[in-house]
Amino acid sequence: MRQPLVAGNWKLNGSLASTKELLAGIKSGLAEVVNAEVVVCPPYVFIPEVQAQLAGSSIAWGGQNLSAEAGGAFTGEISASMLLDFGCKYVLVGHSERRMLYGEDNALVAKKFVVAKKSGLIPILCVGETLEERQQGITEDVVAAQLAAVIDQGGIAALDGAVIAYEPVWAIGTGMTASPEQAQTVHAYIRSQLAQHDGAVASGMRILYGGSMKPENAVELLTQSDIDGGLIGGAALKAEGFLSICKAAN
Ligand code: PGA
Repeated sequence: MRQPLVAGNWKLNGSLASTKELLAGIKSGLAEVVNAEVVVCPPYVFIPEVQAQLAGSSIAWGGQNLSAEAGGAFTGEISASMLLDFGCKYVLVGHSERRMLYGEDNALVAKKFVVAKKSGLIPILCVGETLEERQQGITEDVVAAQLAAVIDQGGIAALDGAVIAYEPVWAIGTGMTASPEQAQTVHAYIRSQLAQHDGAVASGMRILYGGSMKPENAVELLTQSDIDGGLIGGAALKAEGFLSICKAAN
């Protein structure tokens, strides 16, 4: 049985005050969420506050990104060990905004993934196609290449215990959600790709859907057999909406 996981990706949003308020709201509604694992990924600077508020709770937290480097002259970067220092359990790797806006290619994403995994963080590998790629009929090729880069660098063992998030780029922040059938098809494809290397890794892999998931569409997505949770952007910024998605996953 794969434990459902709902992760909130706060992106570049919030203030210290709004972070405190959001955390208090999430904590107050969490008693009903006993089966699903809940994770929040705040901006780096709010991680100490998140740690102070969530330590000892059932909610885990993580970074939105990490450096592929362990340390040294890399201005503006944050390493895996720094995230671990502040209690992070997870880290997003290869979010489409990092890939598209900050030039992270498959090789760099794979390097970050392997560094995160080796350090003891649980990487959440984001994969997904653009609208153009979907229209060209190459969704599976794109996702296969994103997975293959990680397997080439780290071996299938690097994926053992990690998490994958399928996030069609055209659905992120657009209000356009993949239909449950569209999402399920790609999730099953991802699992089949992993199964070519290792059946146990494939069947244990938690594959999250991300891209305009919200309370209104969470149930129909989360009841698909290969969808094991959600990576939530906009809807994770309000406690009530985020909690109702957590309850749907529960
Ligand atoms: P969204 O973002 O829920 O706002 O579409 C999801 C994500 O980018 O992880």
